[in-house]
Amino acid sequence: MPYRTRDLTGTVVAITGATAGIGAAAATQLVEAGAKVVLGGRREERLAEAVVRLGASNAKAVTMDVQSPDDCRRLVAEAVASFGRLDAIVPNAGIGLYGSILDHSDAEVERMMHTNYDGTVWAVRAAVPAMLETTGGGDIVIVSSVAGLRGGGDEAVYAGTKFAQVGLAGALDRELREKGIRVTAICPAGVGTEFAVGTGRVDNDPRFAEWLTADDVAHAITTVLQQPREVRTTLWAMWSMGQGS
Ligand SMILES: NC(=O)c1ccc[n+]([C@@H]2O[C@H](COP(=O)([O-])OP(=O)(O)OC[C@H]3O[C@@H](n4cnc5c(N)ncnc54)[C@H](OP(=O)(O)O)[C@@H]3O)[C@@H](O)[C@H]2O)c1
Repeated sequence: MPYRTRDLTGTVVAITGATAGIGAAAATQLVEAGAKVVLGGRREERLAEAVVRLGASNAKAVTMDVQSPDDCRRLVAEAVASFGRLDAIVPNAGIGLYGSILDHSDAEVERMMHTNYDGTVWAVRAAVPAMLETTGGGDIVIVSSVAGLRGGGDEAVYAGTKFAQVGLAGALDRELREKGIRVTAICPAGVGTEFAVGTGRVDNDPRFAEWLTADDVAHAITTVLQQPREVRTTLWAMWSMGQGS
C-alpha cells in the first residue's frame, strides 16, 4: 500500500524570500500540492508576478524585509486575513557574502547577520501565536545550509548565521513539540540560484552545473510538510551526487 502522506489541500504556508530561488520553487510546489501560500520578499514586482503565476486565489504577497519584526508580523497577518489560518512558516530569506572575515564592510556583515538569523527569529515569533491560535499546531521549516553544520574557510560569518539557525531549530523543537508544532532545519549544499552568483562565491564556476536545484530543496520542504503529523523531521541535510560532503 502506498505510504499515507498528509494532504496539504487548504493548508496555508507563509514563505520568506519567495521572490526567487528556493522560496519561489517552494511556493510553486506547495500550490501544486493544494496549499495556499503567502509570499514575502522585498522586490514588489517579482511578488506581483508570482501571484499572477500561482493564481490570486492561491497566493498572496507582502512586500517586506525580514529584518523588521513588524514586517514579519504583517506577513503572518496577511495569511490569517486572506485565508483564515496559518499552518506553516518557512523562514527562507537569506544572503551570503563569501571571502575572508575581513573582506566586507561592517554594514554588509551586519546585514547578513540581521537577514539570516534575526529574520528567522522574527518570522518564527510572528508565526507561532497565529499557528497555535488558528490551527492548534503547525510547522516551522527553516532553510539553513550545510554551512550550518560544517562551515567552510571562505564563509565564516555566513556559516555562523546558518549554525545559529540550526541551533534555533533544535531548541524550538524542544520548546514547541508538546504544543504540536514541528520544527525542521533543511540544510542544502550549494544550490544553483541567484544567491550563488556575484557574491564572491562561484562566478562562472563549472561545478555550478552539478549543484542541487531550487526544486530539489523545495521538494524537501514539501515532503517535510506532507509527512503525517505524528512524524517530524528535525534535520534534513542534502547534497547532489556531484558535491562532496
Ligand atoms: N543557493 C545556495 O547555494 C544555498 C545553499 C544552502 C542554503 N541556502 C539558503 O537558502 C535560502 C534561499 O536562498 P536561495 O538560494 O533561494 O537564494 P536567492 O535565489 O538569492 O533568494 C533569496 C531570497 O531571499 C530574499 N531576501 C533576501 N534578503 C531579504 C530580506 N532582507 N527580506 C526579505 N527577503 C529577503 C530575496 O528576496 P528579495 O531580494 O526580493 O527581498 C529572495 O527571494 C537562504 O537562506 C540561503 O542561505 C542557499
